[in-house]
Amino acid sequence: MVAGGLPDFPWDLLEPAKVAAARHPDGIVDLSVGTPVDPVPESIRAALGAATDTPGYPLTAGTAALRTALAGWVGRACGADPATVGVLPTIGSKELVAWLPTLLGIGPGDVVVIPQVCYPTYEVGARLAGATVVRADSLTAVGPTSRVKLVWVNSPGNPTGRVLPAAHLRKVVDWARERGAVVASDECYLSLGWEESPVSVLHPEVCDGSYAGLLAVHSLSKRSNLAGYRAGFVAGDPELVDALLTVRKHAGMIMPAPVQAAMVAALGDESHVRAQRDRYAARRTALRAALQATGFEIVDSGAGLYLWATRDEDCWATVGWFAERGILVAPGAFYGPAGQRHVRVALTATDERVAAAVDRLAA
Ligand SMILES: Cc1ncc(COP(=O)(O)O)c(C=O)c1O
Repeated sequence: MVAGGLPDFPWDLLEPAKVAAARHPDGIVDLSVGTPVDPVPESIRAALGAATDTPGYPLTAGTAALRTALAGWVGRACGADPATVGVLPTIGSKELVAWLPTLLGIGPGDVVVIPQVCYPTYEVGARLAGATVVRADSLTAVGPTSRVKLVWVNSPGNPTGRVLPAAHLRKVVDWARERGAVVASDECYLSLGWEESPVSVLHPEVCDGSYAGLLAVHSLSKRSNLAGYRAGFVAGDPELVDALLTVRKHAGMIMPAPVQAAMVAALGDESHVRAQRDRYAARRTALRAALQATGFEIVDSGAGLYLWATRDEDCWATVGWFAERGILVAPGAFYGPAGQRHVRVALTATDERVAAAVDRLAA
């Protein structure tokens, strides 16, 4: 344990497998971390470059141009009403995920519900706030507690690639509204639907056009290869978004002005998103077939940036098996006890490295 009751940083545990994989004569194929490897689109870099003479403090709420771009995008991609939805830029989405419970005033005695197998930062955020974490995919499992203040959903999911249908999201929204809890929907992989089409919590099919108690969390890291820029945003209940803005103004959680300008360019262009999607689709097809041919079962994975694979053994044995072939994958245990018999295979490697992985799996 480290300060604040936080868990040890799990990625350190993967270091021995990384060292083993790096011994491969043709080098490591790192499919463990979902970090983009393809170029930042030229138009976005140009917008960033044109906005470097910005000596004054940026607006925490975002420039008028950014706010218009955010609302427009949420309208197009999520089916929300740009005129009534609240929007707020964040410095990537990880910081918002980690601080959301604290920013909402959640604390000791409160419960934060997170998925059984999920992005570890939901738990980190609850712990930073001193709240209690309950892992549950079905809210009936949570029981009749009025202590639930926040429910996280993540569709398409990391690490599973699971898509929550609109009817499921609607049940979560109804359940939370009856109890006065906030629903935070992490939708950072929304643009990566494969066999399944993800839907936003802000879509009228889910929320009937009312954003009360709802926050959708979005990121440009994967969609536009902007992980290095730290570009995310939150959209939803205007009152909640306003409350977040107030605390974030006090705390100096401000997106840099050049990044705000870059984000306007990124949100106004879908052609680079389609091109990136196509790259991931090709890598996914190749990796999926190679894994299945080697005897892996691919579970869920209907959308998103990962293949959730198992051959029904402890995940660390699978990680070791991949490392012997010079391939690094993430153990499912990083994402919760229920992930103990799976590994997560990321689609974020170059075409050349993915081809190398496919060859090694076939050998
Ligand atoms: C589910 C999920 N949410 C949020 C993030 C954070 O993304 P970022 O901080 O780059 O916006 C990630 C990153 O991998 C993620 O997988």
